[in-house]
Amino acid sequence: MENHSNNHNSDNGTRISKEEYDERVHRWSKKSAEVYNNPFPVKTVNFIDWDNPEYAVTPDDERWILPKNFDLGASEWYQELPREKQIEIGMYRYAQVAKVGSEFEEALIAGIALRNQTLPSSSEEKRYSTHEAEEEQRHILMFNEMANRIGSKPKGAPNWFRNFSPLVGYIARKMPVGFWAVVLAGEEPIDHTQRTLIDMGRKGLDIHPMLEKVMKVHVAEEARHIGFADRFQKQHIDKLTPIQKKLFAASLPLVLRFAANAILKPSKQAQADMGIPKSVANDVWWKSETGRKNLQDLFVNTGKRADTLGLRNGDPKTGAARSRIGQLAWRLADLNSKE
Ligand SMILES: [Fe+2]
Ligand SMILES: [Fe+2]
Repeated sequence: MENHSNNHNSDNGTRISKEEYDERVHRWSKKSAEVYNNPFPVKTVNFIDWDNPEYAVTPDDERWILPKNFDLGASEWYQELPREKQIEIGMYRYAQVAKVGSEFEEALIAGIALRNQTLPSSSEEKRYSTHEAEEEQRHILMFNEMANRIGSKPKGAPNWFRNFSPLVGYIARKMPVGFWAVVLAGEEPIDHTQRTLIDMGRKGLDIHPMLEKVMKVHVAEEARHIGFADRFQKQHIDKLTPIQKKLFAASLPLVLRFAANAILKPSKQAQADMGIPKSVANDVWWKSETGRKNLQDLFVNTGKRADTLGLRNGDPKTGAARSRIGQLAWRLADLNSKE
């Protein structure tokens, strides 16, 4: 075999077959993954041993069946399907959420990069958010690898989400507090969902070890991301003008609903791939009593933060005043949790 790895000049410029091209690109990917030059001293590098026999994806594995009290798994329709169909849909659903999550991370990285162009090199926010973007890049690689190994070829986020993504850069520059709220609108539902599953695993649910590993890696790093986005908003909320703050309060619940719909509700095409009847989809994704409660549960922490920021009920501890328009928006979006 020719050696293409170092000498670009040996590339004679003629078009090569798709297979050979993919193979060359894959070789560059492998090199990038294997040798890792970090600008800072590294304490620990953990990696996923994908070829661990425990992580193998094999046919007819019941561990892919969605749990009875989780997402689509809670619907009678799903529970009455033949076992093979439940496995097939479970695999698709897990891969599909991972794919949508990674598309969200792609938009987030774009927002971070575009905002960082406006910050001085000495900015701590620039340094930290660059690390966060780096971690998100690895999450994308991890989610993609898992989806590929599951092999379901799932559809990603709905088209409207992809069309909206370029706007994220604009928001990140013009209204960074709003940008970090959008970031959390995506991170908190994913985090909540993954923690719910990990917790079910702790209580005895048999989860596929590859899925469990990926979720644990993700949850561990997201804790820091959520911590930063939370602190950023608290730190900078006072820089908003009263009008901006009202707009923020009024639009936040809407953003949360959009994020939940983009990330956790499968797109029309994905629903069709899984063969989910419309009435079942409506029930699960927020219209039934359980669906509605599941949606509200995703944003319990977001709601508390909104109180602290003076975007909903206010908070006597921080002296944040309540926002009438925020309270109204939360009610209209039906996101107030009953707990
Ligand atoms: Fe992530
Ligand atoms: Fe994150």
